[in-house]
Amino acid sequence: MAAEHPAYPVGLRLTGRRVVVLGGGQVAQRRLPALIAAGADIHLISPTATPSVEAMADGGELTWTKRPYADGDLADAWYALIATGDHTANEAASAEAERHRVWCVRSDDADAATAWTPATGRSEGVTVAVLTTSAAGRDPRHTAAVRDAIVEGLRDGTLVAPHHRTRATGVSLVGGGPGDPDLITVRGRRLLAEADVVIADRLGPRDLLDELPPHVEVIDAAKIPYGRFMAQEAINNALIEHAKQGKAVVRLKGGDPYVFGRGMEEAIALEAEGVPYTVVPGISSSISVPGAAGIPVTHRGVAHEFTVVSGHVAPDDERSLVDWPALAKLRGTLVVLMGVDKIGRIAETLIAHGRSAGTPVALIQEGTTAAQRRVDATLETVEEAVRTHEVRPPAVIVIGDVVTVGPRPAA
Ligand SMILES: C[S@@+](CC[C@H](N)C(=O)[O-])C[C@H]1O[C@@H](n2cnc3c(N)ncnc32)[C@H](O)[C@@H]1O
Repeated sequence: MAAEHPAYPVGLRLTGRRVVVLGGGQVAQRRLPALIAAGADIHLISPTATPSVEAMADGGELTWTKRPYADGDLADAWYALIATGDHTANEAASAEAERHRVWCVRSDDADAATAWTPATGRSEGVTVAVLTTSAAGRDPRHTAAVRDAIVEGLRDGTLVAPHHRTRATGVSLVGGGPGDPDLITVRGRRLLAEADVVIADRLGPRDLLDELPPHVEVIDAAKIPYGRFMAQEAINNALIEHAKQGKAVVRLKGGDPYVFGRGMEEAIALEAEGVPYTVVPGISSSISVPGAAGIPVTHRGVAHEFTVVSGHVAPDDERSLVDWPALAKLRGTLVVLMGVDKIGRIAETLIAHGRSAGTPVALIQEGTTAAQRRVDATLETVEEAVRTHEVRPPAVIVIGDVVTVGPRPAA
C-alpha cells in the first residue's frame, strides 16, 4: 500500500445529485438522515431495510429498489455508501466505484474506502466535522468525543468563537429556566457567553452570572432606578439604551419569557424603537418545579389537563382575570404561580365552587435550587400549612390528584 497521507477534508454539496446507498441496515439508518438533509437524490438498493429506513422510503425521502447490489448500480452516482452485510458484494461495489470514479464509503473496511464519513455536529450555522488523520489511527469514539467537545462547547458558550460578520447585537430575551443553572437552554447559555450587557431578574439561574467574563456588565433589573417611570418602563429603556449603543444585550428572565414574564411587553417596546430582538424560550417553573419535586402535571388516568394561573391577585379582586368558579369545576391539575400570599382565598373559592376540600395540594418553594422544599396539604389545610411551615415566594402551588401519584423524592 502507498505511504499514508492524511485524508483531504471537503464538504460535498449533494443537492439533487444521485447518491447510491447499498444496504438498508443500521449503518444506512444512521447515515441517511444527513444525506436527506443535504438534499441528495438517494437511491437505496437493498432486499431489506430496517423499519426506520423503510419509513424514509415510504415518506418519499429516498427511492428504494428491493434487490441486492448488481454491477452497474454505481454508474451514474456522485457518491456511494456501501453497507451491505455481504463482504463480497461490498468488494465488487467498491471496485465498480473505483472504475467509475465515484467516491465511496465502506461500512466493513475503512481501508478499502475512498472516502470517510467524519463525526459531524452543528451549532449556529457551522458544521463541525472531525476525521482521524490516517486509517491506522482510526478511533471513531475519539473523533466523536472531539466533535462532542467542540459542539457542546460552542452551544453552551464554554468555547467562545465570536461571530465576526453576524454577531447578534440587539436584545435577546432569554428564558433562564427555573433556577438550576443546568436548566437554561444551550442557545440561552451561548448568548449569555457572547453578551456585553446582561439585565437579570431575581428569579432564574443567577449562578450563571458569576461565570461571565469580567467585561460583561451585569445589571440587576430590580435595582434600575425608575424615577418618574414605572419599573418596567425603566427596564425597557435600559434595554433600548444599551442596544442602541451597539451592544449585545441579554435580558435574562426566570422560566420562560412569555409565561408571566412580561417578555412581550419588552418585545413591543423594542419593536417600537426599531431595536432588533430575539426570544429564547425557557423551561417554565410551572412544569419543571412540580417535576423536580416528584409531581407530574399530567398522569394517565388521573389528569388529562393542567391549567397554569397567576394567583397574584385574590379571586374577589376586581383586577383578577381568572375565572376561579370555572376552574373549580375542572377535574385536572391547577398550577398556581405567585399565589403564596393569596392561597387561603384561592382555596376557599375553589371549595365554594365545587372542588373537594380534601383535594391534595403541594407547595414547592425555590424549586430546582439547593434550597428547594416541598410542603403538602389539602385545599382545606393549605392556608394553615403555609403559615406553619413559613412557605415564602417564589413557590409553585400544585392542586389536584397528581400531587399524590408518585413517590415523594428524598428532600
Ligand atoms: C413572575 S412569575 C415568572 C414565571 C416564569 N416566567 C416561569 O415561566 O417560570 C414568578 C413566579 O414563578 C414561580 N417560580 C419561578 N421560579 C420558581 C422556582 N424556582 N421555584 C418555585 N417557584 C418559582 C413562582 O410562583 C414565582 O412567584
